[in-house]
This record gives sequence, structure tokens and C-alpha cells, in this order.
Amino acid sequence: MSAPATQSAGTLLEVSGISVSFDGFKAINNLSFSIGPAEMRAIIGPNGAGKTTFMDIVTGKTKPDEGKVLWGDLSRNLIGMNEARIARAGIGRKFQRPTVFEDQTVFENLLMAVKNDRNPLAVLFFKPKFKDLAKVEELAAEIGLADQLSRKSGELSHGQKQWLEIGMLLAQDPKLLLVDEPAAGMTLGEREHTTDILKEAAKTRAVVVVEHDMEFVRRLDCKVTVLHEGSVLAEGSLDHVTQNQDVIDVYLGR
Ligand SMILES: Nc1ncnc2c1ncn2[C@@H]1O[C@H](COP(=O)(O)OP(=O)(O)OP(=O)(O)O)[C@@H](O)[C@H]1O
Ligand SMILES: [Mg+2]
Repeated sequence: MSAPATQSAGTLLEVSGISVSFDGFKAINNLSFSIGPAEMRAIIGPNGAGKTTFMDIVTGKTKPDEGKVLWGDLSRNLIGMNEARIARAGIGRKFQRPTVFEDQTVFENLLMAVKNDRNPLAVLFFKPKFKDLAKVEELAAEIGLADQLSRKSGELSHGQKQWLEIGMLLAQDPKLLLVDEPAAGMTLGEREHTTDILKEAAKTRAVVVVEHDMEFVRRLDCKVTVLHEGSVLAEGSLDHVTQNQDVIDVYLGR
């Protein structure tokens, strides 16, 4: 194996010179930026800026035409790895539509995630160990569903299902959690609780949140990367980027 590329200390993920075209349209255009080990980062930008495509590339769903995605202490290039391997390397992704098993209880869903066996039948056939139960309790507390463990997941509110999904991702202890538009469809109270969950999660891992809701982004209280036409347009505090004339022109001022 060749020596790993040098990466500045304190970098968990670095995308470098990434480009991808769909039918000749450049959705990601020489995109480069990096995320630190236990960093909260918000990504904002207009529709079609490439935010979701960035997540597709990092998770191995979309293969870029050019560039590298360097991961972890060894700066391993993730390009070419399949989605399962990237997930095992420590990258979890939350999709907008929750993938919880609606007929299973909150407890069973969390236990499946802890056991890393997303098969509703499996949970009937094993006797959970004490440490698994303790982990389920811990996760339930972290997502604010400790008093909902025996409820069928299908009965939960939209927000609660999203939190359960986040809990199921945290069960795998990812080093990086990618979250695409978590606030969509949530009430204000649910959005505030979601912020708390993500901020807590970001104390021990990196969390990257794509969101259009600026109040939500403000509450995350973190560095913001603005994407536009597949590249970084601006980066810095929310106050910094929202005063940037280019950002106002392409996104905020519309
Ligand atoms: N698999 C694909 N095939 C063809 N075009 C795609 C594909 N994925 C994304 N695109 C296009 O790439 C561009 C970037 O899309 P992307 O979904 O990444 O934007 P986004 O920043 O997430 O936007 P939004 O805020 O609306 O979610 C869009 O023009 C989109 O239509
Ligand atoms: Mg998107």
C-alpha cells in the first residue's frame, strides 16, 4: 500500500476536487472541503446546488467522475467502495423518509439497530444481552423516546419517527452522521428537539446537516458551508455567510 496522502490534523472527511455530471449537466463541480472529527457542520444552498449529491458521493451511492473522498486517520479514499463498506467504515446517513419498521415497537427497532440486524423476525429469536438492553435504553434517552419504548413505531408522530431513525443510526456509532433536511414537515417543537439531538450527537462524532430552514441552522450554532452549482460559494459562521453578497444573490435574496 502506498503512504496515505497527508491530511491536516483534525480532519475526518475531506472531499477533494470532486466532479460529477448527469447527462452532461455538472451537478458537482470541482468540490473541495473538509469536516473535522467531532464537528457539527451545516450545508446550505439553493435547490439543485448539489447538497444531496454530495451525500450520495460520500456514501458511495453515486460515483464521481473525478476527485477523492478521503476518510479517517489513514486518509483512505472511499471512492470505489460500495455503500455497505462505507457504512461499516463509520459513515451513517439519514434519509428524509424514515425507514423504521412500523409494526415493530420503538424498543424492537432500536434493538435491531443495536444488533445490526434489520430483520424484524430476528428480534423475536434472540435473547438480548444486558449490554444490548442498556444500549437501547441509552439511545432511547438520547432521542427523547424513553417513555415510548413499547409503542408501535407506526403510531409515532412524524418527528418521533425521525428521532427513532436517528437513534437507529447512532446505534451503529458512526464517526460521521449525514442528515438531509431533518426539519422538513416538523413542528417548531419537533425541530427544536431535533436540534438538541443532533447537537448532543455531535459532541462525540461529526454531524453534517443539510437544511433550508435558517432558524434551524442558526440553532445548530456551527460552521456553515454554502454550496452553489456544485462548488463551495462561501464558508464560515452563519452571520458571516449570510452577509456575503454572492450568497444573498443566489440563495437568500430570492
Ligand atoms: N441521479 C441523478 N440523475 C440525474 N440528475 C441528478 C441525479 N442526482 C441529482 N441530479 C441533478 O443534480 C443537481 C443537484 O441535485 P441535488 O439533489 O444534489 O441538489 P440539492 O442541493 O440537494 O437540492 P435540494 O435543495 O432541492 O434538495 C440537480 O440539478 C439534480 O436534478
Ligand atoms: Mg437535496
